[in-house]
Amino acid sequence: MANNPGRLVCLCNHVTAKEIIDVLRAGALTVAEVQDFTSAGTGCSRCVREIDAIVQNHLATTKKDPQLRIDFGIKAD
Ligand code: FES
Repeated sequence: MANNPGRLVCLCNHVTAKEIIDVLRAGALTVAEVQDFTSAGTGCSRCVREIDAIVQNHLATTKKDPQLRIDFGIKAD
């Protein structure tokens, strides 16, 4: 999955895995936040499951806990 960061994840909005990972590294912690910053998953929604997998993998590997988040300037819904 993350072996090819240039891989297109969201075909509707032309968002790559690298773009999603960059947003996560900048502080996004949820699929909704990834959608807000990249528009990935806001078209047909077919890619949302894969976006969620990338988010969960990122959280697991970085030990980030959405419940203990620090405000990175990302507005809440
Ligand atoms: S492929 Fe991502 S919204 Fe359609």
